[in-house]
Amino acid sequence: MADERTLVLVKPDGVQRSLVGDIIGRFETRGLHLVGLKLLHMDRELAGRHYTEHREKPFYESLVAFITAGPVVAMVWEGPGVVALVRAMMGATDPAASAPGTIRGDHALTIGANVVHGSDSVPRAAEEIGLFFSAAELVDWRSDVARWLQG
Ligand code: RTP
Ligand code: MG
Repeated sequence: MADERTLVLVKPDGVQRSLVGDIIGRFETRGLHLVGLKLLHMDRELAGRHYTEHREKPFYESLVAFITAGPVVAMVWEGPGVVALVRAMMGATDPAASAPGTIRGDHALTIGANVVHGSDSVPRAAEEIGLFFSAAELVDWRSDVARWLQG
């Protein structure tokens, strides 16, 4: 399968609860490839563009208030089937139904504070990556571990 890219956000609750390292570690040890990473505080405009599909939903205002309430960590991860893989690793949207072993199943209790976001399709991933990263911020590199053990 050709490599895909997906956008992951550690939401403000995850940053505040010091879960950034745990979440990045899961993707690293799974074997995914990191191509973009930044800490930022989303404003209402970016939140509106990111959550455009939910604009008419009753929970939209609380969703925007929550995602803009503190900094998020935005990441782009690459790998075969990474969009679906990251969604599986995140667990169900409502942590009450998230399996243990998933990020939400291990770290979250309520749907309004569910710690992570992952793009839900390949085309939407490309759009979301473009909202958070310029082309120059996506780094072209390959793992070369042996070289880095020698100094
Ligand atoms: P996300 O976009 O954050 O990765 O989550 P998701 O795809 O699993 O869920 P989605 O349907 O896209 O919903 C986005 C976020 O809105 C909040 N939500 N609240 N109160 C509710 O019924 C409700 N439904 C969704 C959740 O925080 C969800 O992650
Ligand atoms: Mg979603």
